[in-house]
Amino acid sequence: MATIHLTLAPLFLLLAAIFLSTVVTAQPAAPAPGPAGPVNITAVLEKGGQFVTFIRLLNTTQIGNQINIQVNSSTEGMTVFAPTDNAFQNLKPGTLNKLSPDDQVKLILYHVSPKFYTLDDLLSVSNPVGTQATGRDGGAVYGLNFTGQGNQVNVSTGVIETRVSNALRDERPLAVYVVDMVLLPEEMFGKHKISLVAPAPKSKSPAVSDDSSEDSSKKAGVPSEKSGSGEMKAGFGFGLGLVLLCLKFIV
Ligand SMILES: *[C@@H]1O[C@H](CO)[C@@H](O)[C@H](O)[C@H]1NC(C)=O
Ligand SMILES: *[C@@H]1O[C@H](CO)[C@@H](O)[C@H](O)[C@H]1NC(C)=O
Ligand SMILES: *[C@@H]1O[C@H](CO)[C@@H](O)[C@H](O)[C@H]1NC(C)=O
Ligand SMILES: *[C@@H]1O[C@H](CO)[C@@H](O)[C@H](O)[C@H]1NC(C)=O
Ligand SMILES: *[C@@H]1O[C@H](CO)[C@@H](O)[C@H](O)[C@H]1NC(C)=O
Repeated sequence: MATIHLTLAPLFLLLAAIFLSTVVTAQPAAPAPGPAGPVNITAVLEKGGQFVTFIRLLNTTQIGNQINIQVNSSTEGMTVFAPTDNAFQNLKPGTLNKLSPDDQVKLILYHVSPKFYTLDDLLSVSNPVGTQATGRDGGAVYGLNFTGQGNQVNVSTGVIETRVSNALRDERPLAVYVVDMVLLPEEMFGKHKISLVAPAPKSKSPAVSDDSSEDSSKKAGVPSEKSGSGEMKAGFGFGLGLVLLCLKFIV
């Protein structure tokens, strides 16, 4: 009995040492959960992999930067509805290019709500929900209506209705949900407003929406050489002052 114990003792000590060393080495390998640092809407969308057009629009309008700043500083958080590249491709050709620079900015602001909503929140939120475009045009609503059935949430603009699909991110302070259609505000695309069926000017460079058909890995993060983009950028520069003013006002 005693001899068995004596022969097993070194083995026990060895096992104990191995156990302790794994515990000790395991500790530094488990840092605080979640990467620190400010939230970056572009990085969230890049992980999604199908938002090349939306990323570029957020970039050219500077609205992406504004979201990052506001998300970092506001207590309300924000919610972004991100249309896929397919959604932009499914627009009537030239839809974006036909909008004035200021309307293009408003269209993007319409996809951003100055409050953090979980999908559950959206199921029970009171309609209409304000967006970053709300209050422009002399107090126009620019609201989104949400309806739910079961755990499925739909968003309606009065012009289009589509599902709010999966969340690219749903942690405070920023929620990002995928939508399969561009959210067209009634204030801009409703009856008696801009016609969606008017033919696109053929002489002009392709619409922004058409760019998403190109190799997205090549396009992402690479400045476009297309004259159309430069044209749009200049246009957005014009509207940017208004955007900054608007966001400042909302904050
Ligand atoms: C956000 O992420 C994008 C893409 O990963 C990067 O190019 C950009 O520099 C980041 N912005 C900030 C403020 O970190
Ligand atoms: C986020 O906010 C903190 C404090 O309000 C500030 O110090 C920091 O510079 C901000 N970071 C960014 C990326 O804006
Ligand atoms: C949104 O909901 C509000 C309140 O229920 C309603 O008055 C409005 O007409 C709706 N708008 C759209 C575009 O569905
Ligand atoms: C949600 O929208 C989709 C797509 O437009 C539609 O097929 C579906 O019936 C809607 N669901 C509800 C509950 O309204
Ligand atoms: C954003 O725009 C800048 C120039 O305004 C450009 O250098 C950069 O590559 C663009 N980033 C993305 C992700 O489109």
